[in-house]
Amino acid sequence: MRCLGDLTSADFIEKISGGVYSPKIEFGYIPINLEKMKEEDLDKEILRVGMIAELDAVSLYEQLAAMTENENIKKILLDIAKEEKTHVGELQALLLKEDKEQVKELEKVEKKSMN
Ligand SMILES: [Fe+2]
Repeated sequence: MRCLGDLTSADFIEKISGGVYSPKIEFGYIPINLEKMKEEDLDKEILRVGMIAELDAVSLYEQLAAMTENENIKKILLDIAKEEKTHVGELQALLLKEDKEQVKELEKVEKKSMN
């Protein structure tokens, strides 16, 4: 299964990424080639790719939960989606340790949202 429906089909990603994308992670294709990253950016990019995969998983499980009328299956799928949200948070926490620019941008948004 590919992520984000038609927008992230392999053909679309191949088109916008100049034909280079990898790796296939969990439920979708990640539009990034980690082999071309600068070494100092590699961990940040790994964490971002992980976040993409986890967010993709959240969407998938929530969509699957919405599709079933079996309450037990729905409950389990929503529990799994919640776990995936935890994974997003874990990766984000790690990213914020590695990417000080991301911290500054997050702080800007938080200040704006308080006004
Ligand atoms: Fe996960």
